[in-house]
Amino acid sequence: MTTSRQARPEDEATARELAAALGVPFEPRARSIERWIATGALEAVLVVNRENLVLWVGRPAGREELRPERLFFHPSTSVQRVKALLQGGTDPMVAAMDLRPGMTVLDATLGMGSDAIVSAFSVGPEGRVVGLESVRELAVLVRWGMARYPGPTRPVEESMRRVQVVHADHAAFLAATPQASFDVVYFDPMFREPVAQSSAMAPWRLLADPRPVSPEVIALARRVARRRVVLKERKGSPVFGELGAHRVEGRRSGRVAYGVWEA
Ligand SMILES: C[S@@+](CC[C@H](N)C(=O)[O-])C[C@H]1O[C@@H](n2cnc3c(N)ncnc32)[C@H](O)[C@@H]1O
Repeated sequence: MTTSRQARPEDEATARELAAALGVPFEPRARSIERWIATGALEAVLVVNRENLVLWVGRPAGREELRPERLFFHPSTSVQRVKALLQGGTDPMVAAMDLRPGMTVLDATLGMGSDAIVSAFSVGPEGRVVGLESVRELAVLVRWGMARYPGPTRPVEESMRRVQVVHADHAAFLAATPQASFDVVYFDPMFREPVAQSSAMAPWRLLADPRPVSPEVIALARRVARRRVVLKERKGSPVFGELGAHRVEGRRSGRVAYGVWEA
């Protein structure tokens, strides 16, 4: 954990606080991050700067073809999706989850949190969205972003602030959660075969938890969900059949589909 070179005292305080919470060492910034990472001694470096928290991800062992990548929080596609909903449009994820104001959602694969922001917008201030992320560094990055990333529009900012980020493995979290605790439990695991166009997700794939959702996890989720469990996958994926989805929804033209289980 470090800061940018032009860090203000408050940035250094934030970095020290985050480092303590994460149990990782804080080092004052003395050299270039690229060179630091190139030593191979570090897996990742978190950098606090004025506007953002940036995660530099090193090369995993045996993947020398990859370059160190920078990752930072961004509300990404949620901005367009919230705008479309405000203009009276529909969103296939919101439709599959059948979200309405006041509902509670457990987003069990938070990732960058775009889906969770759209859920938070749809359930409104009376609803609740809890997002689970099993990779600690990603959870820290997204928790920072949800709490502090500015805008870009008021509805998106207000929705981000309401997403509660929890660093947890969803199987363990679901097993420890009382039955019928959330209206909807949502999964968007890493696709088995990445969708070609989503190269923006490439750095994410270096760190993300690649485990698929198992039938046992779906069973745990159906116990915790009051209404339904929804899983996003590539359209036509055998996963829906393997996990016994009750039905599959989605836009006819879309590249992804949503498996739905009634609780
Ligand atoms: C495809 S991404 C989710 C993208 C997200 N829906 C969005 O809109 O940005 C999947 C994320 O789930 C996380 N993940 C995978 N398995 C998990 C588990 N068992 N518990 C919690 N998080 C998990 C991965 O680390 C990854 O960040």
